[in-house]
Amino acid sequence: MMAGMDRRAVMAMGLGMIVVGCGGGGSSSSGPIAGGTPTPSPTPSPTPTPTPTPTPSPTGSLAAAAAAKGLRFGSTFAWASPGADAGSFNNPNYAALLETDCNLLVPENELKWEALRPSASTFNFARADEMVAYAEARRMKIRGHTLLWYVGERFPGWLRTYDFGPNPRLEAERLVRTHIETVIRHYGSRINDWDVVNEAVNPSTGTIRTDNSLAQAVGGDTSLLDLAFRTARTELPTAELLYNDYMDWGSTTHRNGVLNLLRGFRDRNVPVDTLGIQSHIGFYSSGSAQSIVDAQVPAMRAFLDEVVALGYKLKITEFDVNDRQRAGSIAQRDADAAVLTRGWMDLLLSYRQLNEVLVWGMSDRYSWLQSFAGPRADGTPLRPCPYDANFAAKPMRQAILESLEAAPARGG
Ligand code: G3I
Repeated sequence: MMAGMDRRAVMAMGLGMIVVGCGGGGSSSSGPIAGGTPTPSPTPSPTPTPTPTPTPSPTGSLAAAAAAKGLRFGSTFAWASPGADAGSFNNPNYAALLETDCNLLVPENELKWEALRPSASTFNFARADEMVAYAEARRMKIRGHTLLWYVGERFPGWLRTYDFGPNPRLEAERLVRTHIETVIRHYGSRINDWDVVNEAVNPSTGTIRTDNSLAQAVGGDTSLLDLAFRTARTELPTAELLYNDYMDWGSTTHRNGVLNLLRGFRDRNVPVDTLGIQSHIGFYSSGSAQSIVDAQVPAMRAFLDEVVALGYKLKITEFDVNDRQRAGSIAQRDADAAVLTRGWMDLLLSYRQLNEVLVWGMSDRYSWLQSFAGPRADGTPLRPCPYDANFAAKPMRQAILESLEAAPARGG
């Protein structure tokens, strides 16, 4: 580390020192990643260096570049035990990335029903509480994700097989209302920005999902989605309430389905402020990276024009780039991913209705895609995030920085 530079500035230059803890929970690595740059063999670090309360973001940080335009930049983060090799605030290497570049965080899993609801009658906020406290201690905003993920596989086991009794609609409404009231009342205005509903549109048909126990209890209509937003608005009159989904470059059917849902919210006067655009983009077609961008921008812009014409704000909530199918050297893949990143960010940031940009993880080492997308044909790990598996900045980070610097300033 160069004399006189604080760690945040050093990390921003990708010169950070690496301390690898023991493997552990959360979105964790099981140790050195096959095919990547060999990392030092993990040496147990009994008492990780406590993260000092940092000074405001240094110039050149993504948070500073965002703030200069009236935006926030952030990332998801995970809970893990101290010293675990995970994308957690308890991992000094990962915490350094968060504190270098972010003024906004979102728990990756800890505010979901699966994490909060061990049973129909209990809530467990312990891990989420630690994460909210970490963010608040560093004057970072925290987002809530998510009050209702309308996908059955993401329900806790007890909810998938739940007996809704003689009046299923009433019981489903009670479950949803009670959950949202309890979670929001637990945090109050400490979390004032929620993904109220996540992924309610079937990407294959563009219609509302009916393949989960709650949807079946109400006959597949939108009533529980509307109830979720109305309950959240009653509890938090000034919060930013989002519908969040992953429509991205490719799926016209999915985008049109989301647009229809957004129109329906307006027709039924449902209090939805913002469309959360998850932005899990990637290489799903061949050709140069720029040709992929050029081919996809017009349709995406037409979609976004319709969304903002309905009065919605926008947010990039979960950005990453899936390069599983992308051939080439690591340097070439990184360069191609930076082109896609710049194309996507420039498009979305051209809308002054967009107020925040979040990535779904700062380091390749802990990305969900390493397990979800499966290994590449060449056996090397995926490279979806702004920093690599050794916490060094990549061309993607530079592309995000330049897009933020080029973005039009948001209104006051
Ligand atoms: O915490 C348990 C651990 O105790 C257990 O030993 C282990 C093995 O079963 O599972 C651990 O929970 C896992 C959790 O991640 C924490 O690592 C869940 O099984 C696993 O399903 C969960 O995956 C998350 C996924 O959402 C489903 O919730 C990913 O980390 C997370 O990145 C992903 O994020 C979603 C967004 O919420 C919504 N948009 C899409 C995005 C990607 O799928």
